[in-house]
Amino acid sequence: MSFTRRAFVKTVGIGGASLLAARREAWAGLFQGSGAARPPRPLLLHNNENPLGPGEAVLDSVRRALAEGGPAGRYPFEHVAHLHQAIAEKFGVSPENVTSGCGSTQVLRVAVQTFTSPAKPLVAGQLTYEECAGYADLIGTPVRAIPLDRSLKLDLDAMAEAAKGAGLVFLNNPNNPTATLLTGDAVDAFIERVHSAAPDALVLIDEAYHDYVTDPSHRTQAARAVKDPRVVVARTFSKAHGMAGMRVGYAIGHPETIKRLDWEGSMALNVAGIVAATASIQDQARLQRESARNTEARRFTIDWFSKAGFASTDSQTNFVFVDIKRPAKAFRDTCREQGVLVARDFPPLEKSHVRVSIGTLDEMKRATDVFGRILGVTARAA
Ligand SMILES: Cc1ncc(COP(=O)(O)O)c(C=O)c1O
Repeated sequence: MSFTRRAFVKTVGIGGASLLAARREAWAGLFQGSGAARPPRPLLLHNNENPLGPGEAVLDSVRRALAEGGPAGRYPFEHVAHLHQAIAEKFGVSPENVTSGCGSTQVLRVAVQTFTSPAKPLVAGQLTYEECAGYADLIGTPVRAIPLDRSLKLDLDAMAEAAKGAGLVFLNNPNNPTATLLTGDAVDAFIERVHSAAPDALVLIDEAYHDYVTDPSHRTQAARAVKDPRVVVARTFSKAHGMAGMRVGYAIGHPETIKRLDWEGSMALNVAGIVAATASIQDQARLQRESARNTEARRFTIDWFSKAGFASTDSQTNFVFVDIKRPAKAFRDTCREQGVLVARDFPPLEKSHVRVSIGTLDEMKRATDVFGRILGVTARAA
C-alpha cells in the first residue's frame, strides 16, 4: 500500500522545490498582458481564497497598527503574545498550547523538519494538501503516500498501517483537494491506531477548512491535542478569516510539542498580520456570516454541476471537487480564456476531476455560465 517518496513525486508529477517554482510561475503567467488594454480581472477560483477578504474589524486594527506612533517600527514580541492569548481564549486553553507561523505553511514545514528524518518517514494521503510531502522531499525525508479509498476519502486503515516507523502522519480534515470530511469518531479511532503502530510519531491534523464544515459528524481534534503530545492541530487565517495575503497560521497542542514547533519564535510574523489575526479571531459574528455565505454559494455550485450531470464530492470546504469526465487541463485552459481560473491538475485524478474554489454567489453564477458553455450544458441549472 505504501509508496516511496520517488513514486509519490512521480505520481504527483512535481518535487518540493519545483512545486514552489511552478506555483510562482503559474501565478506570474496569469496576468501577463501585451501592455495594451488591461483585460478584465478573471474570476479567481483556483486558490481556495475567501472572495471577500478580511472583515472591517480587521481592517481597522491594521490601520491603527500602521498609523504614526503605532507598533510597525518595533519588533512584534508583545503583539504575538496578545495573538496567542486571543487564540488560547477562543479554544479555552492556555497560551503555552499555541504557536503561530507565517501561514500554516510554516507550521506544516516546521513539523516536517522537527519530526521527520531520512529514517523517520512522513505518511500522507495521495491526494492531499502537498505542502508536507513537498517539503519532506526537499529535505530528504521519505514519503509514504497512501492512495485515497474508493469514495475519494483518505484511506485511514492504509495510512494507519503505513505509520509503523514513521516520524509524522499528516491528516488534512476536511481534505484538500477532494473536499471530503472524515467524521470525528473516525479520526479518533485513527489516532489510536497510529499511536499503537508508531508510539513516537506526531499526528498532524490540518484543519485549514474547519470553519466551512457544516456536517455535524465533524469534530476538531484541538481538545485532544492539548492533552496528547503526539497530536497537533494546524489552523490558518487564510481561508474563512479572509487573510491569505497576510500570512498567519497557528498550531494548538500540548506545551511540550508546541515548544518543539516554536523554534522560530515570534519573528516569522509581521505586526500588521498579527493585529489583523487578533482582531479576526475575536470577530465570531463575521466568521459565522462568512461560513453561511460560503455554504449558500457552495450549495448552488454543487447543485449546478449535479443538474448538469457532473458529480461532486460532498464538499465541506470552500471549494468543490467535480468529476467533469474529461481532463482538467483542457477544461482549465478554456476556462482561463473565458476569464475564469480553476485549479491545477491533481494526479492521479487529473484526467477526470477539477477543483473549483467557491467565490461569491454572483461569481459562481457567472462561472457556471462559462462552465456550461465549455461542458456543453445548454439549460442553466439555477
Ligand atoms: C489544507 C491546507 N493547509 C494549509 C494551507 C496553507 O495555508 P496558509 O495560507 O495558512 O499557509 C492550505 C492552503 O491552501 C491548505 O489547503
